[in-house]
Formats: sequence, structure tokens, C-alpha cells
Amino acid sequence: MTTKTTTIGILGAGQLARMLALAGLPLGLRFVVLDPAPDACAAVVSTHVVGGYGDRETLSRFAGMVDVVTYEFENVPAESVNYLAERVPVYPSPRALAASRDRFAEKSLFVELGIPTPKFIAVDGLDGLRAAVSEIGLPAVLKTRTLGYDGKGQSVIKRDDDIEGAWARAGGAPCVLETFVPFTREISVVVVRGRGGETRFYPIGENTHSGGILRHTVCCLDDPAQSAAEGLASRLLEHFGYVGVLALELFEVDGKLMANEMAPRVHNTGHWSIEGAQTSQFENHVRAVAGLPLGGTGAVCRSAMVNFIGTIPDAAEVLSVDGAHLHDYGKAPRPGRKLGHATVCGDSEGAVEAGLNELLRLTRNC
Ligand SMILES: Nc1ncnc2c1ncn2[C@@H]1O[C@H](COP(=O)(O)OP(=O)(O)O)[C@@H](O)[C@H]1O
Ligand SMILES: [Mg+2]
Repeated sequence: MTTKTTTIGILGAGQLARMLALAGLPLGLRFVVLDPAPDACAAVVSTHVVGGYGDRETLSRFAGMVDVVTYEFENVPAESVNYLAERVPVYPSPRALAASRDRFAEKSLFVELGIPTPKFIAVDGLDGLRAAVSEIGLPAVLKTRTLGYDGKGQSVIKRDDDIEGAWARAGGAPCVLETFVPFTREISVVVVRGRGGETRFYPIGENTHSGGILRHTVCCLDDPAQSAAEGLASRLLEHFGYVGVLALELFEVDGKLMANEMAPRVHNTGHWSIEGAQTSQFENHVRAVAGLPLGGTGAVCRSAMVNFIGTIPDAAEVLSVDGAHLHDYGKAPRPGRKLGHATVCGDSEGAVEAGLNELLRLTRNC
């Protein structure tokens, strides 16, 4: 029987879109990506529409080329997503996108759904920031409400003397001030929900950040925090009638979980799943969006993932690490830019730890 090919449109054509297309092509899916950057790295595996996210003519052309729309980042203008949603199905729902693109809306939703989160206050000016600091106490973190990623738009305020500098760095943008959490570890749960409501959870990842950027993730099997993390993510899935992959970043403090942020998309802390799970987060996202049955999310090995940021080691060096798999995104090097990652797989914790340490050494050498 011949069925029509499903074409998935992706807003954004960075590495996440590239890995979505790489996962979906073998299923017979086709991809159209929209991104203003002519050299966007997903273009090699898809049809690239070059244009602005806010440009109606571009959006209309894009909508005409696809059966369904998804996105790889949160900062798509809400009006553009709504415009597209009037023409083609958009998954995950624009409501999930709207909640996650504004940190104040996101944290307010956590509170509404009974998901513990650090204390936070909206801040619109220097006086407001001073008042928020006296309310919340120090240390605290000032974050711009929108457009932040990889730690951008954030400042830690340790002393009263830091207040003015932090406000200046925010550049007058609306912010939230939140308690600095002395977490014991950072974890994330990645979950996928199909169009019919079928839900599957990946094993949680334990994440190490530095300078606000994810450096590495270790996939944790049979972790004691797994079921609590799943319970919190489920509240979001139900609230949105969610379709696709969702990631929830959590702080663990004294054995309890607090939500940091959610991402209504495939997530850097789930990259290990390409080799480490029965079905990768990328394949499951496109399966969900295309209305196909979901695949298993169980681990097929122990694994850990290392990001290559700013520079990327030679392929031969990475591949000489036992059990390592390289993903070079084909992006031009720039300080702080995610250029690729490697996942190391093994059959014991010790083997993965050894591989992880070798990969981390490579990131320091290059
Ligand atoms: N309230 C906080 N307390 C302690 N560390 C924090 C806090 N907020 C953020 N961080 C650190 O900064 C990282 C990036 O912050 P996050 O809010 O996740 O922003 P981004 O959107 O840039 O990922 C977090 O993963 C964590 O390591
Ligand atoms: Mg984050």
C-alpha cells in the first residue's frame, strides 16, 4: 500500500533539527527547516527555507510545504507559531511553547501545578531588584525572562554590591530573581508522549554544567529519583495534552526535587539516547509528531555524553576512545558554541566512567 510521505517542518535548523532529520529520514519522513542563517547545520539533511521567523511570506511558504510543524528552540515569536497553527498542526502545542519562552510564566505554571521550584519574583527595574533581593535573600540568581540559553542572560548575586552590575548586565530586560539553590546534583527527565496519549520516560540524566553550559550527562539506571521526576513531568504532559518530547531540568536538594526549567523539545541532556536507548529522543519526537507508534525508551547499555563547546577534537582522537560515538554538527567554531558531542557506551559503570574521563580530557586538550 502506498501512503503519502509525511513532511515535518522544523522551526530552527541547528543541531537539534539536524539530529531530528537524521532520525526521521529512515522512517520515510521528509524535513523542511526554517532558519534565517544560510549556513544552518540542518540544511544538509533537509530542505532549507531561508527567512525570518517573523516574516509572513516566509511562514506562509513554509506552511505550504509541510504536513506538521515542530520546533527546536523556544524563542520563536508567539504570533508566528499561532499563524502556523492556523494552517497546519503544530506539536508540541503552542501553549507549551508560550509557557517555556518566558521564565516567569514557566515558574508560575510550576507553582500552579504543584511542582516545587525555587522561590522567584518578577523584576522590572533596579528598585524592584533591590526589593526582590530583600524578599528572597542572597545568594540569588537574576535571569532575563526571555531569550536566555546556555546560561546567557544570567548573573549570580552574592552580595548587595553585585546588584547594580547584575541589573546592568540584564540590559534593562524584564527579569526574574530566584533563590540560588545549593543543589547536590542536577538531573533531567526526558519524556515522550504520542498523539494518543501514550507516554514513555527515558532514564534520568545526571548533568554537569559550568558557566551555565551543559558539559556532560551521565545516564542513570535505576536511580532513586526516577519515579519522582516522572511524576513531576507527568503533570506538565497532562496540563498541555502534550505531543512530542519534553525535558524537565531539576535540582536535587536533600533528596528532594525542584524544577529549574522545562524545554518543549528534544534536549541536550537526552543526546545519549541516540546510542544508549532502544529508540532515541529524536526518533521518538518525530514518531510522536507524525502520529506514529512510539519506540521503547529503555537503556541498551550504560552511557554518558560529553559536549564539545567552542572547539572540537579530531575525529580520530574521539573515536580512539573505547565505546565512543562522535556527532560533529558541522558548525563553524566560535567561543561558547556547541559544535558536537560524543557518547560513550559500555557494559559497566566503570567502563563508561573511564571513557567519560578520556573524553573530558580531550575537551581540555583541544
Ligand atoms: N537558582 C539556581 N541555583 C543554582 N544554580 C542555578 C540556578 N539557576 C540556574 N543555575 C545553574 O545555571 C544553569 C543554567 O541555568 P538555566 O536556568 O537552566 O538556564 P538556561 O536556559 O541557560 O539553561 C543551570 O543548569 C544551573 O547549573
Ligand atoms: Mg537549563
